[in-house]
Amino acid sequence: MKSFDLTGRTALVTGTSRGLGARFALTLAEAGADIIGTSRNVAAMEDIRGQVEALGRKFFPVALDVGSFESIQSAVREMRNHTARIDILVNNAGCNVRKPATQITWDDWNLVVDTNLRGTFFVAQQVAAEFMIPAGYGRIINIGSVTSVAGYAGLAPYCASRGGTKQLTMSLADDWGVHGITVNCLAPGWFKTAQNAVMYEDKEWVEYLSDRIPLKRPGQTGDLDGPLVFLASEESRYMTGQLLLIDGGISTGATRAVPKK
Ligand SMILES: NC(=O)c1ccc[n+]([C@@H]2O[C@H](COP(=O)([O-])OP(=O)(O)OC[C@H]3O[C@@H](n4cnc5c(N)ncnc54)[C@H](OP(=O)(O)O)[C@@H]3O)[C@@H](O)[C@H]2O)c1
Repeated sequence: MKSFDLTGRTALVTGTSRGLGARFALTLAEAGADIIGTSRNVAAMEDIRGQVEALGRKFFPVALDVGSFESIQSAVREMRNHTARIDILVNNAGCNVRKPATQITWDDWNLVVDTNLRGTFFVAQQVAAEFMIPAGYGRIINIGSVTSVAGYAGLAPYCASRGGTKQLTMSLADDWGVHGITVNCLAPGWFKTAQNAVMYEDKEWVEYLSDRIPLKRPGQTGDLDGPLVFLASEESRYMTGQLLLIDGGISTGATRAVPKK
């Protein structure tokens, strides 16, 4: 379908140095978009930059720490000096701290909630004000999680931040629909990346997790490509404020109610 084509669009993907963000940048570039990538360490984007440029698309790397308002403002200024348009924003930068709730420190809480929720909001605010509202067009995709709708032991600040991401998405959709901007939340289930690699070293845990997922496996590279392009494209034009869960069904709360054969 022609309207999934992103040729001529510019997409900002935060947290492009590795993991899901690197894949999002590549996927949008494959669909035709030029990419602005960010990391706290610009050199860490060399690999993804090469991959995007090999597709014939442009890649502009920008230093950004979403934990600092000054950094967000200065990054958006740098983007403005580079380009007149950002059509698509993928608010992907995020972090996690895995600990029992009684061991979470004040600083742990602030790190996770400030990065994942405050960072998502202020990046969206600055990009909308500088690029999308004046243009009367935008596709904002906030990366949420299955934890936007479910609680997990050991992930209290993370779940709180991702629940907030979902609510923030609805609020911004209502704020900015009048400007031709859609705001949706793409919510992955469990995908193996640097953020959670240690969990996947535990075979027993992977078996336990897979058993609880109706499709019987964690997420794999490529599972988010189609949903991402859909949300970034014309095909999602009448959808805003929504949560799109790509999680193999684990958000159904699947728990075995019969003995295992
Ligand atoms: N993996 C999963 O199963 C899963 C599931 C649901 C949702 N998510 C969400 O998807 C996103 C990507 O996760 P991932 O698994 O790919 O994680 P990852 O491999 O740890 O990558 C995290 C990315 O976020 C960036 N980042 C972290 N803190 C930042 C900060 N303060 N300022 C700017 N950038 C920052 C990192 O960039 P630098 O370190 O280079 O600055 C990196 O590019 C996160 O928001 C995560 O919550 C992941």
